[in-house]
Amino acid sequence: MSNLDDLQNKISKDIEELNSEELKKIYLSNEGLLKKAFSEISKLDTDQRAEYGKKLNELKSIVEKEILSSQKSNVSKSVERIDPTAPFDHDTKQEKKPRILDLQGSSHLLMNELGKFLEIFQSMGFDIVESRQIDDDYHMFESLNFPKGHPARDMYDTFWTEDGFVLPAHTSTMQNRILKGKKPPIMAVIPGRCFRNESTDSSHEHTFFQIEGIYVDKGISIANMIATIQEFLESYLETELEVKIQPAYFPFTEPDAEFTISCPFCDKKGCSTCGYTGWIELMGCGMIHPNVLKSANIDPEEYSGFAWGVGLDRLLMIKNYIPDIRELRAGNIKFLRKY
Ligand code: DAH
Repeated sequence: MSNLDDLQNKISKDIEELNSEELKKIYLSNEGLLKKAFSEISKLDTDQRAEYGKKLNELKSIVEKEILSSQKSNVSKSVERIDPTAPFDHDTKQEKKPRILDLQGSSHLLMNELGKFLEIFQSMGFDIVESRQIDDDYHMFESLNFPKGHPARDMYDTFWTEDGFVLPAHTSTMQNRILKGKKPPIMAVIPGRCFRNESTDSSHEHTFFQIEGIYVDKGISIANMIATIQEFLESYLETELEVKIQPAYFPFTEPDAEFTISCPFCDKKGCSTCGYTGWIELMGCGMIHPNVLKSANIDPEEYSGFAWGVGLDRLLMIKNYIPDIRELRAGNIKFLRKY
C-alpha cells in the first residue's frame, strides 16, 4: 500500500508539471505506471486486493479527469474568437453592409385561416367556444361513450400528465361541456389545439388544430349535416364540390361517417393532392350518439343532432398547396414570409 502512497504523490506532482500527452504516456499507456500497478494485484494476499484495487481506481480516475480537462481547455484556446459586433465582416475584413431590418410582425398562416373558418361558421349562426389544452378522462373519453377499457380509446394515443390529466387528442372533448345544462337549439364550433403521440412525417404532426362543430335541435337529420358541412367547405375552398359520406367508426356518433369531397384541383381525374383517387377524405362526422346526449342530460327521444371534427392544418394545406404539415410549426421564416 505504501507503493500506492508514493504513486499518489508522484501523480500530484506530475499534474502540476506535465501536459496531457505526457501524463497519458506515463500513466495510461500499456507500459504506464497505473497499468503496472494493476498487474501487481495478483501478487497480493487475497484480503488486501479489494482495498488496493479501489485505491488504484481512484488514482486512475484522478489522472483521467486531469487529462480530459486539459484537453478541453486546449480546444477552447485553439478556436479563434469572433467579435460579432465588429463593424467589418470577419472573413473578408470588409466593412459590413447596412442591413434592412424587417421589424414588422404579422399573424401566422394558421391563425389567418382559422379566422376565415370561424367567420364562415359565424355567418351561419354558430357560436364560437374555445377548447382546452389540458383536460380529463371524463371529457376525453367517458362522456363520449368510451367507457374504461373500451378498445377505441387506443385510436387516441396522446400525452398524459403524471397526475392523470390529458392533452386532448381531439376537440370532441368539448361536446359534453357545450351540451350540458342547455336547452336546444345548440349550435357551436370549437377550435382547439390537439395532440397525438405520433411519429411525424409530411402528413402527421404531434400538435395540430381541429375545429369541432355541434348542432342539436328537434328533427335534425343527416341531410342537415351534409348540407352544413358542404356549405362551409365550398365557401372556404371557394369552389363547388361534389361530396359523399363513407362509413367510419367513432363511439360518440351513430351513424358515423367520413366526409369526402371531390378533389378541387383535378376535377376527379386524379392528382398528387388526392393520391390519384379523385376524392379527398376530410373529416369525421356523424349523428351524435344517444348516450352522449344522455350524459349531457338531453333527451335523445326529443332531440337529435350532428357533430364533426375537421383538421384546420389539413384543410389549409389543401387550399394553399402546402405539401408538408411540419412546415406549419417549424418557424422557418422563408416559408412564413410566403403567406
Ligand atoms: N374526434 C374525431 C377525431 O378526431 C373526429 C370526429 C368524428 C368528431 C365524428 C366528431 C364526430 O364530432 O361526430 O378523430
